[in-house]
Amino acid sequence: MPRPKKSQSNIIPVKKQKGADFTPQLLKGFKDILPSSQLYWSFIYTKFVKLARAFGFSKIDLPILEETQLFTRSVGKQTDIVSKEMFSFQDSSGLNVALRPEATASIVRAYIEHGMMSWPQPVKLFYFGPMFRRERPQAGRQRQFYQLGVEALGTDKPVLDAQIIALIYNLLVQLGLKNISVQINSLGCADCRKIYLEELLNYYKSKRRYLCDDCKKRLLKNPLRLLDCKQPTCAPVIATAPQILDFLDETCKNHLMSVLEYLDGLEVRYIVNTRIVRGLDYYTRTVFEIWPEETEAGAQSALAAGGRYDELVKLLGGAPTPAFGFAAGVERIIAALRDAKIEPKKEKAPEIFLAQIGNQAKIRALKLFEKLRSAGLDVAESFTKDNLTAQLEIANRLKVRYVLIIGQKEVLDGTALIRDMESGVQEVVDQQKIVAEIKKKLGKAV
Ligand code: HAM
Repeated sequence: MPRPKKSQSNIIPVKKQKGADFTPQLLKGFKDILPSSQLYWSFIYTKFVKLARAFGFSKIDLPILEETQLFTRSVGKQTDIVSKEMFSFQDSSGLNVALRPEATASIVRAYIEHGMMSWPQPVKLFYFGPMFRRERPQAGRQRQFYQLGVEALGTDKPVLDAQIIALIYNLLVQLGLKNISVQINSLGCADCRKIYLEELLNYYKSKRRYLCDDCKKRLLKNPLRLLDCKQPTCAPVIATAPQILDFLDETCKNHLMSVLEYLDGLEVRYIVNTRIVRGLDYYTRTVFEIWPEETEAGAQSALAAGGRYDELVKLLGGAPTPAFGFAAGVERIIAALRDAKIEPKKEKAPEIFLAQIGNQAKIRALKLFEKLRSAGLDVAESFTKDNLTAQLEIANRLKVRYVLIIGQKEVLDGTALIRDMESGVQEVVDQQKIVAEIKKKLGKAV
């Protein structure tokens, strides 16, 4: 006989606890950087800091949250970064704030706010930290990503442009990325750009019917970005568009020629690409991007980019101060290293592993750990394990040559065993002489 169906009224609804069905997850476009990737991060960070210091830059750390206006005024209201991608909100006092989408604007704010114009010029600063853009997540494009970068404020000399381009070029080459291409252009000063934009607009208006919808908007809002369109239908229009280089005045032309001459001298390989216009409004004169060579132009994966921003300090309320800088995407550099099968060297194995058996031995070993460490030895341990075999397995995994073992007997007679993990030979040493004995074995000065 079929069972009678339970009537709805018999079902006792389970009262959901608030939040009980909530499984915490990463936000879209955000990533955890796990211990297994940290080798890449420290590899890049260490090399970058060394190079930046060698080029005379000092470190600056800036806040992640700034007033939204800082970015609307500098990066530009009409840019994608500001108009579509900023994480901006009102704080509880009603102030409009934003997670920084980039660091150049904050550097300029800090330059003005801390009176850096009275420091010896140029003021040369480097940074490393997270930036935030609410972009559509895809390969090489995250919503939180890290940039390393430098900014030099207080000179318009073209040699600075070339030196900074050489800095990031050399960093990428030193990391092992040989196939990279520096693409360089000049956007001229405000005067030459005004004439150029008129010409560009006239040209584009005559081609309006061939343009994609985005370009029709750019025509009204941000005409320089027309040259940056990735739609195949717009490519023929871009190909025959007037080129900014033909509109540079003598001073801007000479500036660019000098930058190229210095780059030749520095043996930095580059190509002049008049389509490099950048997605931020503050640029004047030199702009550049560095791409992995095998990537087709059009793919969205520049490793680094930057340029001159001679008007920005004044625009944000400071005295007129020319400046130049770049930023590179750390995740993109890591992806390029992985693509090229470049692995940073593993950290060195610890010099000694300290193993213990029994509670009294653990107490003695805890003290010994401090003694060995303060004597300059690189010691590993696993005090949460009690079993010797488990500890030796860890020592093996860490590739440690010598293991120091203390058990009940050693506690009582004030000795310890040193085990050579390669030969399996063990010898007894006096706990008082342990540091000297180990250093002798490691070939270190006692
Ligand atoms: P940017 O071209 O917007 O320039 O960004 C610089 C670099 O940051 C890019 O080349 C790329 O490697 C990385 N990047 C940008 N957006 C993302 C993203 N969504 N995901 C992963 N990586 C990304 C600037 O930010 C300027 N502040 C550069 C500068 C400094 N100009 C003068 N000084």
